[in-house]
Amino acid sequence: MAHRITLVPGDGIGPEVTEAVLRVFRAAAVDVDWERHDAGVLAFKKHGQSLPAELLESVRRNKVALKGPVTTPIGEGITSVNVGLRKALDLYANLRPVRNLPGISSRFENVDLIIVRENTEDLYAGLEHEIVPGIVESLKIITERASTRIARFAFDYARRYGRSRVTAIHKANIMKLSDGLFLDSSRKVARDFLDITYDERIVDAACMHLVMRPDKMDVLLLPNLYGDIVSDLCAGLVGGLGVVPGANLGEHAAVFEAVHGSAPDIADKNLANPTALLLSAVLMLDHVGERQKADRIRAALFAVLQEGRVRTRDLGGTATTTEFTDAICKEVET
Ligand code: NAI
Repeated sequence: MAHRITLVPGDGIGPEVTEAVLRVFRAAAVDVDWERHDAGVLAFKKHGQSLPAELLESVRRNKVALKGPVTTPIGEGITSVNVGLRKALDLYANLRPVRNLPGISSRFENVDLIIVRENTEDLYAGLEHEIVPGIVESLKIITERASTRIARFAFDYARRYGRSRVTAIHKANIMKLSDGLFLDSSRKVARDFLDITYDERIVDAACMHLVMRPDKMDVLLLPNLYGDIVSDLCAGLVGGLGVVPGANLGEHAAVFEAVHGSAPDIADKNLANPTALLLSAVLMLDHVGERQKADRIRAALFAVLQEGRVRTRDLGGTATTTEFTDAICKEVET
């Protein structure tokens, strides 16, 4: 039976990388009934809403979505679709596996990190207001409930996938109350997982450690804003934003999306690397129980990367998005 999945192509390079994924899925004969929805600037122009109610209903109904990046205008204007989606669907866990990929040279080998980022609160919730002209206030809300929930997710994940260490990342030396509560909650959860080593690192020191010895770290547990920043840093360890997948997971829905944004600098030029969205889509196939198809697509992608003849520009090649996708489809079909 076909899987019914919500599809949000997004904007910028979103439609190009989404089309690449759809082509690979067709080549692998993955049976999906897509429900397409606009979001962001496109949706705002068409429906007067950047996050249309129909899109939310569709994800609630299908429980699974694949989403391309969506532009968030800086400063005034529409609020972030990503933040809105995560809040509306309570997608509280942002999961980002960061691993070396075959054939992609990077500064480090043996990088195998799992980033678990709290997705619903912290400064990243964007609760801001102007007190008087010239003075603004941004609210960093941290709750015991959300911190405990994300810590439990990280430890459960570690146990399920045989990982040995969870490192909580914080700035509790300065933000003693908010990050302090995040740490306290993590420590309490850690007591239920004595088979997994638990440690803590201050976010600035953690960044230094990550760019010196990333192979020494395992599962990283972070509040929302540090998670956002550290995710991109980690993407840089293994080949950049074009190759790292992600998932936003909640009790009732899961939205799979790449770590990268809409890359306006290369949009509509057929230059984008679809690897990150394709790997996110592969995580999605695992999630819906299509392990064999997931393995087949992953193997085809890895074979093309390993061979190295057809590569997009961000990986030092000259191939267009279409040419790179052609190569993966060909590999899937053989
Ligand atoms: P970005 O990730 O879009 O781009 C950063 C750099 O990485 C650019 O040079 C871009 O060309 C390159 N890059 C990104 N993805 C690539 C890919 N697949 N292939 C090749 N090169 C790639 O980050 P930026 O410029 O900070 O954000 C642009 C817009 O995207 C903003 O409006 C931002 O709010 C939004 N954004 C959306 C996200 C989402 O929808 N999940 C996540 C991050 C940013």
